[in-house]
Amino acid sequence: MTETSDSVTLTLAPAGDRLPEFRPGQFAMLYAHGIGEIPISVSAIPGDGTLVHTIRAVGPVSRALHDAEPGTVLGVRGPFGTAWRLDDDEGLLLVAGGIGLAPLRPVLRQALACRSSRRVILIAGARTPADLLYREELRRLSDMDGPEVVLTVDRGEVGWNGRVGFVTEPLATHPIDPAHTTALLCGPEPMMRFCARALLGRGVPAERIEVSLERNMQCGNGLCGHCQLGPLLVCRDGPVVGYPVAEPLFPVKEL
Ligand SMILES: Cc1cc2nc3c(=O)[nH]c(=O)nc-3n(C[C@H](O)[C@H](O)[C@H](O)COP(=O)(O)OP(=O)(O)OC[C@H]3O[C@@H](n4cnc5c(N)ncnc54)[C@H](O)[C@@H]3O)c2cc1C
Ligand code: FES
Repeated sequence: MTETSDSVTLTLAPAGDRLPEFRPGQFAMLYAHGIGEIPISVSAIPGDGTLVHTIRAVGPVSRALHDAEPGTVLGVRGPFGTAWRLDDDEGLLLVAGGIGLAPLRPVLRQALACRSSRRVILIAGARTPADLLYREELRRLSDMDGPEVVLTVDRGEVGWNGRVGFVTEPLATHPIDPAHTTALLCGPEPMMRFCARALLGRGVPAERIEVSLERNMQCGNGLCGHCQLGPLLVCRDGPVVGYPVAEPLFPVKEL
């Protein structure tokens, strides 16, 4: 399914054995035959043995996956990595930038399916209105008596009546209960850094802030060292880590 001019959502059905269950935040290594293999998070967990991924075409492998026609055979390894922390009844604040909304969508869907009294807030940003993922789904959600959905774009367009500006702006003012909020952040590293600082400033404890890290990956299961970031192997110890772990690592450049 086409999401934006450069992003699609693919549903992968097993060619043989049933695919294993993933948890929100985890990723698969997807292999486009003859081109290469990259990590891609699950963007929905239908529970019927299929896998759902949203892919933005940025280079050769993601372009090949993006362009895959129905019936294309892809390689899949996984599940890999850590999952978002969803283990209590605290309020959930999801903050996403661009394609970073994809790994958070399963959390949103799971929170809705549970029908708990948990308060769920989504603040999502994109470059332009046309770059916003899952617009129809988010519109339906915000029409329901469910999650609070705040969308913002860096650059408005004719016909866009919503917010213009970075996600840090609604993050600074949207009503939250800081002591009882778990914040999950996914997007470019500078965005996550600024958002985490804003949340700390509002009184959300550091240990209640989680981020999803990105590094180049090869094996996906802690063997090759390709994804090393300080003391972490991001494929094994991440991608989801607590902010106290991530904070000193943000300035570390990829080799
Ligand atoms: C744990 C994890 C989960 C991920 N989940 C997803 C996902 O759900 N959906 C998704 O689309 N991507 C996801 N990614 C990112 C994806 O794996 C990379 O974008 C991948 O490197 C693309 O491979 P490529 O061969 O197509 O391009 P590459 O040859 O690796 O990159 C081509 C060009 O694009 C730039 N580039 C690479 N990645 C990005 C990026 N994320 N943003 C902007 N520029 C970039 C590179 O610097 C390079 O200039 C995830 C990454 C990790 C580590
Ligand atoms: S990708 Fe090989 S150790 Fe992480």
